[in-house]
Amino acid sequence: MATVSVNTPTNKINITINGKETTVTKDMTLLNALTAEGIEVPTLCHHKDLTPSGSCRLCVVEIENAGEKELVTSCNYPIRNSIKVETDSELVKKQRKNLAEMLLGRWPNVPAVKEVAAKCGATDVNKFKSELTDDNPKACILCGMCVRACDEFIMERILDFAGRGIKRHLTMPFGEVDPHCIGCTSCAYVCPTGAIEIVDDLNHPVNPKLIRDYGMKINAEMATLDKSQCRMREVGTANIVDVMNAYDLLPVHNYKFGSHPDSPNIDSKALKAKYFTQNQPDGCWKGCSMACAKAVDGFEIKTGPYKGQKVVVDGPEYETAAAAANMGCFDGDFLIEFNFYCDTYGVDTISAGTCMAFIMEAYEAGVITKKHTGGKELKFGATNEVLECLHEMALGKGFGADYGKGIRWLKNKWIKEYGADAQFLQDIGMEVKGLEYSEYVSKESLAQQAGYTMAVKGPQHDEAWLIFMDMVNNQIPSFEDKANALYYYPLWRTWFALHGLCKLIWNDVVPADNKKYKPQVAAKVPGHVEDFFKFYEGMLGKPIDEEGMLNESARVHNLQRIIARMLGYGMRKDDMPPFRAVGPVTKEEYESRADRYYDKQLKEIIGVDPAGKSTEEKMKILREYRISQYNKVVDAAYKRRGWNKNGVPTIERLKDLGIDLPELVEVIKGD
Ligand code: SF4
Ligand code: SF4
Ligand code: FES
Repeated sequence: MATVSVNTPTNKINITINGKETTVTKDMTLLNALTAEGIEVPTLCHHKDLTPSGSCRLCVVEIENAGEKELVTSCNYPIRNSIKVETDSELVKKQRKNLAEMLLGRWPNVPAVKEVAAKCGATDVNKFKSELTDDNPKACILCGMCVRACDEFIMERILDFAGRGIKRHLTMPFGEVDPHCIGCTSCAYVCPTGAIEIVDDLNHPVNPKLIRDYGMKINAEMATLDKSQCRMREVGTANIVDVMNAYDLLPVHNYKFGSHPDSPNIDSKALKAKYFTQNQPDGCWKGCSMACAKAVDGFEIKTGPYKGQKVVVDGPEYETAAAAANMGCFDGDFLIEFNFYCDTYGVDTISAGTCMAFIMEAYEAGVITKKHTGGKELKFGATNEVLECLHEMALGKGFGADYGKGIRWLKNKWIKEYGADAQFLQDIGMEVKGLEYSEYVSKESLAQQAGYTMAVKGPQHDEAWLIFMDMVNNQIPSFEDKANALYYYPLWRTWFALHGLCKLIWNDVVPADNKKYKPQVAAKVPGHVEDFFKFYEGMLGKPIDEEGMLNESARVHNLQRIIARMLGYGMRKDDMPPFRAVGPVTKEEYESRADRYYDKQLKEIIGVDPAGKSTEEKMKILREYRISQYNKVVDAAYKRRGWNKNGVPTIERLKDLGIDLPELVEVIKGD
């Protein structure tokens, strides 16, 4: 039967399977195409989440390509032409039966071999019986799935084959137990025969199988989906630089702007091309299948105590690259050296970057001068001066010693000692509760503004995904929606942090079927929430659901809020953002986004015609509006959390949670 050519997109190909035409995606494997057509093909070395190896040859089919007929293994045959396929021809059946008889002769008692052999019509265990015959029902059949699982899921490459022909066998390096094996059990999980035995579960979970089942699901997703979603294995969180710049959310010049034409100097492509040296995934802990940590080897340091030495630098991650953008320092070498010295001195790159961005804006605005900075011209982009300040900070001398005390301390000093404009410094000093902001521009997302400020420890990056839900995807449009998000996500985050689980595997790579949910539900990544719940159940032996998770977390979260209250940081006044986090502080800032955001909002939402008004007049109206909106979202969020208007948990809420202990009630009564 001839294949009919139809108008299909160029990545589609028409093929003929057993006389029936069908359209498939170019480069998909023939086995996947056959499975999609409902045709069962015997396999022994194939696993859907591993790269096919074509070693058992049982999946063989006959194809005709440009008039030439041949037998191919369907699991690793990529469809590139309009081939004709026969899955059940006499030649195919004969070939499969022969192979199956040989396998049966060597491993007659292995259930997986017996089952696939039966499908191929082979039942004679004696035909190929020889001195190689292994009667062990759990014998290794050399399928190689464990080797690929160790490499592709965990990236450890502990297992491999040694020997040739009949001497081929599975081994660890030099035939000895490799101490680098982390005991993740991925190899045992995929083994079709049970040849790999798990001898110990070091953490003594109640139900290790449950943990393995769900852990393997995540490992398989990381191995197969990450490359088309976030590329965490390839470039780590540096991929976010590219995304944030594109969405106008990358902090530039102390959060004045959201993108910069020089950001490609420090984005994931630049870092991968010039700095990431090991060209392989790396994890915070051995065995993490996302493995987003990256490193730079042999980097020559140009300043400070390590000047002239070649060092290894752990990173950089998104927040560090974005901190460099925030300081206007779009220089790759600076970024790596800044990262190295922050790590070496034990300084957080976010606080160091955000605080320096504030200093630079204050310097450019004339709040401070060279007289105050020890002669350093601290304009945006002053890479050498930033490093000089960092070294001074480490030594506790000069202007660097002041820099190390943070934005809140600097504001107070400059107001008190230099007579600086308090309102201006309050507006541009990006800190809440004394903690510097993490590196996302929150101006256009009300939920993110409140997520940052209401976080118990201050505006750290835990809450950053709210920007995407709110501003980019418009998934939480009403105050009620935002309040619900500001209830659920901090509690979810608190819960998995309490259990030592990582945020990145929750929502940086999502299951392939996550799109089946409505957007607000999809944002919670229900498939991964279930995985985390199963992990909990596997460890502790008791199930948990969303309500149980929220209650467990709310107890801790409310306790944290009361402790913050005891420390002087847990009330509404402590949840107030600097205006830079809410809207434009300066004229240039307003004008840079006037068309896209501000004039549009005045006209379409506030009902004020911007025509004929000065920038100052428009900024005043916008400011009043945005502050009122911010207060409304905070009111809604407090209500949803069971807190009063002052942002303090009510005694009723503590009772509901079973934590109305006299010493806690004593702290909040009267607030
Ligand atoms: S337990 Fe994990 S690390 Fe060890 S060999 Fe198996 S897959 Fe590799
Ligand atoms: S140990 Fe299991 S998975 Fe590994 S090659 Fe042997 S049979 Fe295959
Ligand atoms: S399943 Fe294709 S060669 Fe083994």
